[in-house]
Amino acid sequence: MNQTLILVLNCIFLFFINELTAQDMSIDQKVDGLLSKMTLEEKIGQMNQYSSFYDVTGPAPSEANAKKKYDHIKGGLVGSMLNVKGVEEIRKMQKLAVENSRLGIPMIFAYDIIHGYKTLSPIPLAESASWDLEAIEKSARIAATEAAAAGLNWTFAPMMDVSRDARWGRVMEGAGEDPYLGSLIAAARVRGFQGDDLSASNTILACAKHFAAYGFAEAGRDYNTVDIGLSTLYNIVLPPFKAAQEAGVRTFMNSFNELNGIPATADEFLQREILKGEWGFEGFVVSDWGSVKEIAYHGQAESEEHATERAVNAGSDMDMESYYYVNHIKGLVESGKIEEAKIDDAVKRILRTKFELGLFDDPYKYCDEEREKTMIYHDDHMKAVLDIAKKSIVLLKNEDNLLPLPKSGKKVALIGALADDKNSPLGSWRIASDDNTAISVLEGMKAYKGNELLHSAGPALVNGEVSFVMQVNINKDDRSGMEEAVATAKDADVVVMVLGEHGFQSGEGRSRTKLDLPGLQQELLEAVYAVNKNVVLVLMNGRPLAISWAAEHIPTIIEAWQLGTQSGHAIAQVLYGDYNPAGKLPMSFPRTVGQVPIYYNNKHTGRRYPEPVVFWSHYIDEENSPLYPFGYGLSYTTFEYKNLNVKVQGKKVDVEVTVQNTGSLAGEEVVQLYIRDRVASVTRPVKELKGFDKIMLQAGESKKVSFTLTEQELGFYNNQRKFVVEPGFFDLMVGGNSADGLSTEFEIE
Ligand code: NOJ
Repeated sequence: MNQTLILVLNCIFLFFINELTAQDMSIDQKVDGLLSKMTLEEKIGQMNQYSSFYDVTGPAPSEANAKKKYDHIKGGLVGSMLNVKGVEEIRKMQKLAVENSRLGIPMIFAYDIIHGYKTLSPIPLAESASWDLEAIEKSARIAATEAAAAGLNWTFAPMMDVSRDARWGRVMEGAGEDPYLGSLIAAARVRGFQGDDLSASNTILACAKHFAAYGFAEAGRDYNTVDIGLSTLYNIVLPPFKAAQEAGVRTFMNSFNELNGIPATADEFLQREILKGEWGFEGFVVSDWGSVKEIAYHGQAESEEHATERAVNAGSDMDMESYYYVNHIKGLVESGKIEEAKIDDAVKRILRTKFELGLFDDPYKYCDEEREKTMIYHDDHMKAVLDIAKKSIVLLKNEDNLLPLPKSGKKVALIGALADDKNSPLGSWRIASDDNTAISVLEGMKAYKGNELLHSAGPALVNGEVSFVMQVNINKDDRSGMEEAVATAKDADVVVMVLGEHGFQSGEGRSRTKLDLPGLQQELLEAVYAVNKNVVLVLMNGRPLAISWAAEHIPTIIEAWQLGTQSGHAIAQVLYGDYNPAGKLPMSFPRTVGQVPIYYNNKHTGRRYPEPVVFWSHYIDEENSPLYPFGYGLSYTTFEYKNLNVKVQGKKVDVEVTVQNTGSLAGEEVVQLYIRDRVASVTRPVKELKGFDKIMLQAGESKKVSFTLTEQELGFYNNQRKFVVEPGFFDLMVGGNSADGLSTEFEIE
């Protein structure tokens, strides 16, 4: 054999040996192998995340900041990018890292895919009203499928911040006020995004955010201070995060707020002790946008270096857009203020997710133009988001059965600025979507022909006459159109009014001090009602609103939130009765903004019971109870609860109840179970949701529904952070919302 042939055979042999070993190696071994080859600068680079910049793809950008980012990517100093989207852009950006940096480590590409990429599901708060975990998981699956097809592999979702304050604009992005429902929804969303194989080309990393207590911002003002006790932290705030961790979420994002005097990004207790310690989280923590920098603004760091030291030592593994890690970690390691072991730990966590995604096998695995073309706005996605949109609608009031509307023979006036709005129903936090792509209520009603209609079918009015008046803007003081609206209403058999908030009146940075219908909408509602009492109010909003006047006067009210791409079709199906609404509120609706924060799982207080005197816990000008409680929602049929039975065996409680559909239509009911631990070492809420089951019942049909309560449902965290089940009596309530139902008691010995 000649020398060249021997060399070639040798190379082939070595190649296969390497391949075999690489294949046989565990991810941890691969991570360790790679880490051992990295310089300190390259390690720090993995902890650095930049937002997109222009001129990615042409010659080096000229603008200084963009050029710096560009050079850093080529130098292996960027571990991840956010806000780059689309196969073409992502491929080019990935190439910069893979083909230019010394080790060619691929970047991960993140984006805020909150309720869909292009095809949009309802906003998360709305979706939570479905209490349908399967549909919620599917909705996240669709978002992941479209995002992954567009080159992305990491979403900054789900947000699982429990919030009791409707003034906070970001309630639209969460699952509402309850930690139990919130935990199940958080886990469902994580499963939906990540699937059971992260290396598949249609799954992406999820991110549990914002860790922690961001939803408890004082006075509902975004980014504001949070000061809560251990009991609230452990029993209300943390459970959804723990559930996400148990569901295998690979990343966490910390939060902008300070918690009890420590900015979350600098909080060692939260990130190292609880998350990475007690819970054993093996993924990585990304900061929120610039939150490393903000440690100084909070008054907890005196320099950029100090902020960096605090964040890294507290366990924040990746810096989103502060530039501090890339600029300062090296010096801090050299001066001994940060141990290199901490850097290694952070980098290992980040590299591990890159291996799990399969990016080292193929850095361009999410970059397939063909898949991008076929998956975006796929018909199956349209069908699924229509399904979840219908399930998210909550019927708040239906006096005299004004709904469902007959399908012919009625003159229907459709009024309100939101009635033909194709943008607002898309809601907030939908940065990858195309504007004006929602089916408006007008389009939905015009196109309505029956179930499963996916696209607007043109102008034919198959449901009788719909006169449309869209005047009267949400926020302006322009009364033009008011007169015409009232005249049209006068002439109609039924008036459908679509009122609420526009799509960007909620979301990040959109806190409100008022929870009324903005602008002239209340005036319009009252003017229309004055000439025609048959009003169906369709609310379109991103948060609970205080609508006491409407609740008292308007016979029929539907909470339709912002339902995403298929909004109008979903609403039309409910209006015309082809879908029987079954949604239940995931957040209490206050009577007035002054009651906020208002939530069902409040404490008893020492002065709860009405007294003949003034000195009990109440308001002198308003009731304590909400306008519509947590878990509330009607149906076109009615349900009766009977035969509640409880059997206790040790620390296991079996509960059985019979639910009957007593109306004349088939319908679904969310059967809810609440408990109260009457006497405990730390006061317990008056009610806590501990189980639910969504069941379908034909007219007249009865079903037995069973629940089992275990230590997990019976216990709570005491002030020593220990999970305990304490003996004694519990109240148990089962019903169709948090305020009504059957009740009994049981004892745990
Ligand atoms: C700030 C928001 O708080 C966070 O939720 C989001 O993911 C980041 N910006 C990135 O856009």
